[in-house]
Amino acid sequence: MAQKARIAVLISGRGSNMAALAYAAKAENCPFEIVLVASNDPGAPGLILAEAEGIETFSHPHKGLTREDHDQIMHDAVTRAGADYVVLAGYMRILSDRFVRQWQDRMLNIHPSLLPKYKGLDTYQRALDAGDSHAGCSVHLVTPELDDGPVLAQTKVAILPGDTPEILADRVLIAEHQLYSATLARYVTREQDPDWILEQVRMRALALAETYERPSFGTPGWRVGSEKTGKYFAYFSHRHHGETGSALLVKTSGLDEQSALLDADPELYFAPKFYGKSGWIAIRLDTGQTDWDHIASWLKKSWHMTAPKRLTKMSDIADQF
Ligand code: GRF
Repeated sequence: MAQKARIAVLISGRGSNMAALAYAAKAENCPFEIVLVASNDPGAPGLILAEAEGIETFSHPHKGLTREDHDQIMHDAVTRAGADYVVLAGYMRILSDRFVRQWQDRMLNIHPSLLPKYKGLDTYQRALDAGDSHAGCSVHLVTPELDDGPVLAQTKVAILPGDTPEILADRVLIAEHQLYSATLARYVTREQDPDWILEQVRMRALALAETYERPSFGTPGWRVGSEKTGKYFAYFSHRHHGETGSALLVKTSGLDEQSALLDADPELYFAPKFYGKSGWIAIRLDTGQTDWDHIASWLKKSWHMTAPKRLTKMSDIADQF
């Protein structure tokens, strides 16, 4: 199995979500491990549990410190522990923009509502007052705006007759414990998920001028030009023609460039079956270390080789600015 993602969990209280993550992490095939549990409250009950489970802990009260200074102390602790991701689990602090930026796309939170409904506090009471049929929980990426980042996953929880905020909270918590570890596991392995990889390629291919997607022999491909006369400049291959893993197929200038690439980096490049003889090259996308800027520049290069003159001229002029 690939190396496990290293997680720092930030808590302020009982830490039941942290516990759920820690127990999920005990499974051999879990793709993450908890390397630190940190709190702004040295008395947080969750710290005792983490310690008993042999997890490193850290705490530093925020009293008397500016938000930025306290966040910096937490950031340093998380970095010292070698964490790849920060996971907020009942961390009752609004984070400074700086901290959020430092962990952009690598910080998750769990919130007890079906976002975008009921950001902030009192989520259960608000769901009950609104007469909703369901409450629930959401795992989202953290952005500077409170409870506002892209939602990664949600679980709906039915509201029952006679529910009070407390009863409902207990039931939502059961759902939280399931959702958080499953979502975190999926998120830290997203770079091996063919759907996620395809979406990354698609975004970059369709960002180029006059491009559109059209499947070719069961695999997504991208063309440049008009619907009628357009030509393919890239294909996505996932276990296509018996090849392993996911790869991007793009055009090189010909067989010389193709063989130079194969020599230079045989881990990254291979000659795709059926297309190899015409100078197309396959770039592996499932190494978990894909350089997406590099992929974008390959797409651009291949687009440039394929696009009609009127388009390449325009893009050459734009590139000079
Ligand atoms: C959970 O309800 C979570 O959704 C919210 O804070 C609570 C934390 O509970 N963000 P616990 O400390 O994980 O038990």
